[in-house]
This record gives sequence, structure tokens and C-alpha cells, in this order.
Amino acid sequence: MLVSAEEMLKKAKAGKYAVGQFNINNLEWTKSILLTAEELKSPVILGVSEGAGKYMCGYKTVAQMVSAMIEDLNITVPVALHLDHGSYEGAKACIEAGFSSIMFDGSHYPIEENVEKTKELVGICKEKGISIEAEVGSIGGEEDGVVGAGECADPKECKMVADLGVTMLAAGIGNIHGKYPDNWAGLSFETLDAIQQLTGDMPLVLHGGTGIPEDMIKKAISLGVSKINVNTECQLSFAEATRKYIEAGKDLEGKGFDPRKLLAPGAEAIKATVKEKMELFGSVGKA
Ligand code: 13P
Repeated sequence: MLVSAEEMLKKAKAGKYAVGQFNINNLEWTKSILLTAEELKSPVILGVSEGAGKYMCGYKTVAQMVSAMIEDLNITVPVALHLDHGSYEGAKACIEAGFSSIMFDGSHYPIEENVEKTKELVGICKEKGISIEAEVGSIGGEEDGVVGAGECADPKECKMVADLGVTMLAAGIGNIHGKYPDNWAGLSFETLDAIQQLTGDMPLVLHGGTGIPEDMIKKAISLGVSKINVNTECQLSFAEATRKYIEAGKDLEGKGFDPRKLLAPGAEAIKATVKEKMELFGSVGKA
């Protein structure tokens, strides 16, 4: 059964570890992540961007696929199905389709409008027992056509949005989606510290988990980050393993062209990446 992300994140914040959000793109992706979470007895959040939702036929298909997979694979660890960087309309559609968690990314609106829309969605989510993530200060880089400049969030605005009753808060602290450029300045721990001081128990979310050095991840967790989003890294490991298979000519040997064989190395590579992240984030054994 899908669960809201509230309880797992409260526990993570109190226990000083983070739950990984891994974005899904198809059945193989979902299966690899769920099996790894179960094997490691770790709670997990499956992220779905609006683009990925569309790619997988729509939110209803995604919600039903994930729910059925949890049942068929006998997954017992807590799993939240979460809309990643949702629009106002997308958030409503996912609530309708059976997601257990949503992110409303109103960071591109003026703060007053972000507050107003977030407030309305908080009301709907509370009623349905769904967790809701809000964002303050845009996260840089490009993800599914959404481009952000990567500014640091204003801690006072974070406090204002946290007080609206959201479950978790994403705050820009110099993090960006995708690979980090060589001249990246690193995370602003000063900003993170100021945000955590003002928002107290609120679980904080770190987007752009791909390519952040381990020591920075650990420091971010020590300063209140309890959810870390990873997307690109699974895509890179899947692509690399698939490329190796093809380059080795394995698809030309016997029935190597069978999609179940062709996609297997990529699926295994996703498992390895997810395992590495869960170990780093400290969520292993916390389910
Ligand atoms: P990366 O693609 O950089 O891992 O970021 C993922 C993310 O933040 C999803 O919201």
C-alpha cells in the first residue's frame, strides 16, 4: 500500500538520516527501486515529474502500476508515490489519480501567490492524508524543460511557507538538477543552517542529489535535510550499462535482443545506484 511521506520523514529528521526520492520513468525503473528498498529495509519515495507522468501514459497508469507492483512483489517497506515539481493543475490531477504525496512547485510565482496556492493545496492534502512538499528559492539547472537559476532561498520566506502546514520543504541552497559544472560553488550551509533554525522540526528536502560529494550530503543531513532527490544518476548508470551491453555485441548473441535481456544490465545498474545512495543517506534498516 502507498503511504504518505509524512511519517517516514518525521522519523528521518528525528533520526538524522534522509530518505531517498528516486524518480521513475517506466516499469523497470520502478521495479529496480522497489526491490532495492525492500532488500535493504529502507523507506523510499518514488518521484514522478510531470514529463515522466505523461511519458508513462498519465498519472492514473502510474498510480495503478505502482500500487499493483507493491502488491505483486510483496513490498513491505513504506513507499510514497510523489509528484515531483508539480504545477497547481498537476498536483490536483495526481491527488485525484491516487498519489500519496505531491510537490507543488510555486517557486516561480511571486511569494504571495506561491503562499496562496500552497495554502489551498495543503487543505486538500490534509483532508486526504497526502503529504505535500513546497519549494522556496528555485533550484538551478534544467529538469524536464523547467529551468531554474539556482538562487538561495530566503530563510524568512521558508518559515512563512513552512507555517502553512506543508509536510516538507525544498529550499534552494545552491543545488542544481543534473550534473554539477566544474566551477560549482558548492552548497550554502550557511543558508541551510539559517533555514533549519527558523523552521525547526520541518523535514528539509535537497533536490539535485546527483553529483553532490558525500561529505556535503552528510553535512546537509546533519543540518536538517531528511529527503534527498536523485534522478540523473540513475539515468546515467542505466545508459552506461545498456551502452556496454550493446557495444559488447551482446544483443547479437543468441536471444540477446529480447527486451528482458537487453534491459537487464540497466535495471541492475539502477539497483546498484539506489543501494549506494540509501547507504550514504543512512536509510538502510529504517523501514
Ligand atoms: P538530479 O537529477 O540532479 O539527481 O535531481 C533530481 C531532483 O532533484 C528531482 O526533483
